[in-house]
Amino acid sequence: MYTITPITSIKKDIEVPADKSISHRAVLTSSLAKGKTIISPFLLSDDTYATLECIKKCGVRTKLEGNTLVIEGVGKNLPVTGNIEFFAKESGTTIRIFSGVLCGQAEAYFKFNTSAALSRRPMSRITVPLRMMGADIKGTVLNNVEYPPLTISSSKLLNPIKYKMPVASAQVKSAIIYASLYAKGITEIKEPFLCRDHTERMITVFGGKVHKKGRTIFSQGESRLISPGKLFIPSDFSSAAFFIVLGLILRKSQLLIKNTNINPTRCGLLTVLRRMGAQIKVVNKNDYYEPSADILVKSSQLRAVEVKSCEVPLMIDEIPILAVAASFAKGITAIWGAKELKVKETDRINSMIYNLNKAGVEISSSKYMKGKTENWVIKIKGSNKLKPAKFKSFSDHRTAMSMIVLAKALDGDSMIDDIACINKSFPEFISLMEALSA
Ligand code: S3P
Repeated sequence: MYTITPITSIKKDIEVPADKSISHRAVLTSSLAKGKTIISPFLLSDDTYATLECIKKCGVRTKLEGNTLVIEGVGKNLPVTGNIEFFAKESGTTIRIFSGVLCGQAEAYFKFNTSAALSRRPMSRITVPLRMMGADIKGTVLNNVEYPPLTISSSKLLNPIKYKMPVASAQVKSAIIYASLYAKGITEIKEPFLCRDHTERMITVFGGKVHKKGRTIFSQGESRLISPGKLFIPSDFSSAAFFIVLGLILRKSQLLIKNTNINPTRCGLLTVLRRMGAQIKVVNKNDYYEPSADILVKSSQLRAVEVKSCEVPLMIDEIPILAVAASFAKGITAIWGAKELKVKETDRINSMIYNLNKAGVEISSSKYMKGKTENWVIKIKGSNKLKPAKFKSFSDHRTAMSMIVLAKALDGDSMIDDIACINKSFPEFISLMEALSA
C-alpha cells in the first residue's frame, strides 16, 4: 500500500524521462543500421530494458552508461542462427514491433515469451498482416484470436502488401513497416485514423524510405539503414501528461514541463484539454526529427467536452488521465471510440470506473455500434465533492499514475495498492511527485 498525501499548490519547472515509444524504435533501428549510434537520453524502464535484452540476444553489442546507450549496428540481417527464445516481459511494443524484424531474418527459429499479463493481449493484429507478407509467424489460438507466445521461423524474402489496418495501432503499423524492410517493392499501409508516427520518422532519420500521404504510409523495401551517429530522444509526452493535468487541477499552481515531445500524433490531449478551458502554453519549440517544446500549465477551471473517435488514437495512453481531468470539470465528458482501452495493460475502462467511483465520480461506459463495428463510450460527470479513497492500480502503470494525480488534489490522504507497475514506463514518477510535494 502506498499513501498519497495531497498537495495544495505548486510552482515549479520539471523534466520527465525520455520517450518510451521512441526509445524502443531507437534500439531497434540503430541495431539494423550500419555504424554506431549514441542514443541519449534513453528511457531506463522495464519495457525498454525488455527491448534491449532482446536485441542483445540477437548478437548486437550495446553499452549503457547512465542514460546514454551506445548501439553497434549490424545491419538488417541480424547475426542469428538456430533456436532463440526471447522474453518481452510486459512490453506489448517489444513483442509487436520486434516480431516484424524477426520475420525478415534468414536462418533461425524464434520463440517470443511474455509475462502472464501480456499473454492476455491480442497478437492476431500483427500475425495476420505479417503472414500476408509471407512470414511464418504463429500465436497461441484461443477463440479464434492469437495470443503470446509467438513462434517465428525464418522466411526468405517477404512480399510487399497493401494493408488496411482494422485498428489505428502504431504497434501494428510499425511491425509491418519493419517487416517491409525485408520485402522487395513498396508496402502500403492505410490507417483508419492517424496514430503515432515515430517509426516512420525514425526510419527516415536512418536513411530509410518511408513516406506518408494522408493516412497512407508507403515503405520502400530493401532500403539500407545508416546510423546518423547521435540520436536525441525528447521527454515522453505521455509521462508529461500526468503533470500537465496535475498543474491544471491543483489550485494556484503553475508547472513548466521541459523538453517534451510534441509530435502532433501524440498530443491529442493538449487539443482536448484546451477545449476544456485549460490554460496551456507551448513555448521554446525545437524541430529535430521529432518536435519538442516546454509546456507551461496553470490552474484552470475545466468544462466537459465530447471527445471524438478520431481523436482517441492521438491520445490513446492519456485517456485515464483525461478521465481524471474530466472528474474535475463542469458537466459530463463523453469519450467515444474507447474500445482499444479494453486491451491495454488492463481493461482501462474498468480500472478507471472502479477507481473514480471510489472517489465519488459518476462514471459509466456503454457499447454502441458504428456501422457493423462495436465500440465503447465512457461518460464522466465532473464534481467538486471528490473524496480520498483506497485505489487499485490493477498492475497498470497508467491507472496507478492517474489515480495518484487525482489523489494529490483531494482533501486528505488516499491509498493505492501497488505502485511497482509504474516502473514499466516512468520509474522516477514517485520521486518526482514527492519532490513536488516537499
Ligand atoms: C505504442 C502504441 C500504442 C500505445 C503504446 C505504445 C507504440 O499501442 O498504447 O503504449 O510504441 O507504438 P497501440 O499500437 O496498441 O495503439
